[in-house]
Amino acid sequence: MSDIQLSASLIAADFYALGEAIEKACEAGVDGIHIDVMDHHFVPNLSIGPMVAESLGKHHIPVPMDVHLMVTDPDAYIEPFAKAGASCVTFHPKTSANVQQTLEIIKRAGMQAGIALNPDDSLTLDPSWLPHLDMILMMSVHPGFCGQLFIPKTLDRLSAMKAELNARSASHVCLAIDGGINVETLPKAYEAGARFFVVGSALFGADDLEARVSALRGSVTS
Ligand code: DX5
Ligand code: ZN
Repeated sequence: MSDIQLSASLIAADFYALGEAIEKACEAGVDGIHIDVMDHHFVPNLSIGPMVAESLGKHHIPVPMDVHLMVTDPDAYIEPFAKAGASCVTFHPKTSANVQQTLEIIKRAGMQAGIALNPDDSLTLDPSWLPHLDMILMMSVHPGFCGQLFIPKTLDRLSAMKAELNARSASHVCLAIDGGINVETLPKAYEAGARFFVVGSALFGADDLEARVSALRGSVTS
């Protein structure tokens, strides 16, 4: 399916050889690189920050970098990741004092803006967010770690969010899913309305990344 966007989640890669992992993922045909930023406050893990993204950006990665902020102060990270060359920033609404303002700051920095919703978060979208929203990242695991199992109820949440976006004449907003995506879960999420898939372990855990990318794309047959 050509309308599938695959974004390789870096925290599932070998950090000893991050650049090589990115090159392999790009050669394998992914559409983007997903950078999970964790501050050990909002989620029980600590990952990478703008400095790493900046060094990746200097090597002119051939695909866009989408940054997933799992931090208690998202506004502080927007400018540094814009400078690092990120194309999109998503953040969790509950971490922002003013979601509309955070979205606006991301857009003013020249990037696409999105919100990330945890498996138990409300699906209610504040009308003030919609004019600035490019992506909704639906978490299909509880954030903090790669290699977790897909939470099945996410499929109903995806369908409900798709319906909500259509009802709000906001079907242009990219519906993305993040966590436990593999050849079994991807087609189910596609069926429920997702078109942007963050893949970590299912990609970087493969011996043949190109074959795995093809299998992921080929898993949607309809
Ligand atoms: C979890 C992260 C996800 C995760 C994806 O907090 O946001 O991006 O690393 O990895 P897999 O595909 O292994 O669940
Ligand atoms: Zn993520």
